[in-house]
Amino acid sequence: MMETPLPELEAILLVGGQGTRLRPLTLGTPKPLLPTAGVPFLAHQLARARSFGVRRIVFATSYRAEMFSEAFGDGSAFGLSLEYMTEETPLGTGGAIRNAADALTCGPDAPVLVLNGDILSGHDIGDQVARHTARQAAVTLHLTEVEDPSRFGCVPTDEDGRVTAFLEKTPNPVTNRINAGCYVFTRSVIDTIPAGEVVSVERETFPGLIEDGALVLGYADASYWLDVGTPGAFVQGSRDLVLGRLASPALPGPTGDLLALPGAVVDAGAKVDGGSVVGARAVVEAGAQVSGSVLGDDCVIRAGASVTDSVVGIGARIEPGAVLRDVVVGDGAVVGPGNELLAGSRVWPGIVLPECAIRFSSDR
Ligand code: GDD
Ligand code: MG
Repeated sequence: MMETPLPELEAILLVGGQGTRLRPLTLGTPKPLLPTAGVPFLAHQLARARSFGVRRIVFATSYRAEMFSEAFGDGSAFGLSLEYMTEETPLGTGGAIRNAADALTCGPDAPVLVLNGDILSGHDIGDQVARHTARQAAVTLHLTEVEDPSRFGCVPTDEDGRVTAFLEKTPNPVTNRINAGCYVFTRSVIDTIPAGEVVSVERETFPGLIEDGALVLGYADASYWLDVGTPGAFVQGSRDLVLGRLASPALPGPTGDLLALPGAVVDAGAKVDGGSVVGARAVVEAGAQVSGSVLGDDCVIRAGASVTDSVVGIGARIEPGAVLRDVVVGDGAVVGPGNELLAGSRVWPGIVLPECAIRFSSDR
C-alpha cells in the first residue's frame, strides 16, 4: 500500500538585496553567501527549512544572481529542489515574492513560506505554518522582540494575535515587537501583488491587507533571532553558530570555542576562542589572540596580533602587534605592525596599511 504523501511545503527565499551595510564584504559576494561558521550563510537557513519539511525553494535573486546557482546548483546536495527567479532590476520585497511565485507548483489555498535571506532564527517554522493553517490567515508573520524596534518593521497585535498595523522603520515604534522576516502566505494572496512592479511587502502589501480587513496574524516567540545585516551582527551570528547558541544542521564540525576549517594552522602558543572560525589554510601564529572573529581562508594572523569580534578577509594579513576590535578587513588587505583599528573601522580589499599608520587615542 502506498503511503499518503506529505504535503510538500514550498518556500521563497529573498536574496536580492545589495547588503550595503556589510561593505566591503559584500562588494564581491552577496550577503547571503558570506562564509558564516564555515559555510555560506544560506546553508544554515536551507538546512533549517529542510528540517521543517520544506523540499522546494525558489530563490528570488537580483544582485549577483548567478552566484547563487553556482553555490547551490539544483539543491540535490542539500536534499532540496532549488529554482532561481531573477529580477533584472530589483523589484523590492513584494515584487520579488510575486515574481518568484511563478515558479511555485502549489495551489491557491496552500501555505507558502517566505524567508528574508539574512536571518538566523531558532523558531518552530512547523508550528508557525500550523497556526496559519488553523486560523486560515492571509499571512502569518513571525514576530520577535528587540531593544531598538525603529530599525525594523514594528508590528502591534491584538489579544487574539491579529496584526493591527505594520509600521516599517518608524521613528516612533508603539511596541518592541517586530517583523522577524519569516512569513507564511496563503498562495492566492501572493497572486494579488501586482506583477512586474516595484512593491514593498512591508510598506505596501501588509498595510494594505490590514486596511482591507484580511486576517494578518502574528506568530510571536522568544527563540534565538538575529538579522545579520551589519558587520557586528554578522560576526555575532557566526560566533553563536560555532558556540552552539543556535543549532544548525549545516555546521561543518562540532560546536565549541573554535571552528578550524581544513588546512588551518593554529600554533599551540596562540589563543583562539569565543566561537571564532579559522578559515581553510589560514595561519594563526604563536602569541596571537583571536576572539569571537571570522578569519577568512588563507589569511595570516602574525605573532602578537590581537583580533576581537572582527572579520578578516580571504588572504588578508594582520602583522605583529596590530590590534583589531569590531573591524572588517577586506580580502587581501594588509594591516601593518602596530596599527590599532577599533569599532567600526573598515579596511578596503587590497589596501596595505604601513606600520603604525593608525593609532587609537582616548585623549579626544
Ligand atoms: N529579490 C529581491 N529583490 N530581494 C530583496 C530586494 C529586492 O528588490 N530588496 C530586499 N531584498 C531581500 C534582502 O536580500 C533581504 O534578504 C530581505 O529582502 C530583507 O531586506 P533587508 O534589506 O535585509 O531589509 P531590513 O533588514 O532592513 O528589514 C527587513 O527585515 C527586518 C527583519 O530583519 C524588513 O522585512 C523588516 O520589516 C524586518 O523587521
Ligand atoms: Mg535585513
